[in-house]
Amino acid sequence: MLSKSMEKALNGQVNAEYYSAYLYLSMSSYFDSVGLPGCGNWMKMQFQEEWLHGSKIYDYIIERGGRVILQAIDQPPSSWDSARAVFTEVLQHEQKVTGLINALADLALDERDHATSIFLQWFISEQVEEEATAGGILDKMKLIGDDNAAMLAMDQDLATRVFTAPSK
Ligand code: FEO
Repeated sequence: MLSKSMEKALNGQVNAEYYSAYLYLSMSSYFDSVGLPGCGNWMKMQFQEEWLHGSKIYDYIIERGGRVILQAIDQPPSSWDSARAVFTEVLQHEQKVTGLINALADLALDERDHATSIFLQWFISEQVEEEATAGGILDKMKLIGDDNAAMLAMDQDLATRVFTAPSK
């Protein structure tokens, strides 16, 4: 059984993950509106990943006998100055999410909630990957600068991303 404080904290993370999904869907829509559908596709896949993250925590709360209380999802921003500005925000957002996951892991340790500690290991590893991926794309966009041909090539590259649900 989850403690009330852990139940509340995990509910907060469900909301944070669904907000991430919403943010990336908004970024996908922005990219589609500026002629970068490959970047739009990448963000759409990211949206699906985040929705899965939220749902994974949702299922865990229930599995541990807790109660999920869904909260309002904040409205995400809808426009950015450039593709590079979008990926700068993605990296900053993922760094913030890493902080939230680490705080949850700290709480699990404080409460000696070993099951939640193990559950959160997957998210800790996932955040390493998320930050590395966003940082890698941002580095390439910095190199591309104002080179439109290079940006279009990168867009085609990002168009190939497909969503694969991780095994449990
Ligand atoms: Fe669910 Fe991108 O962190």
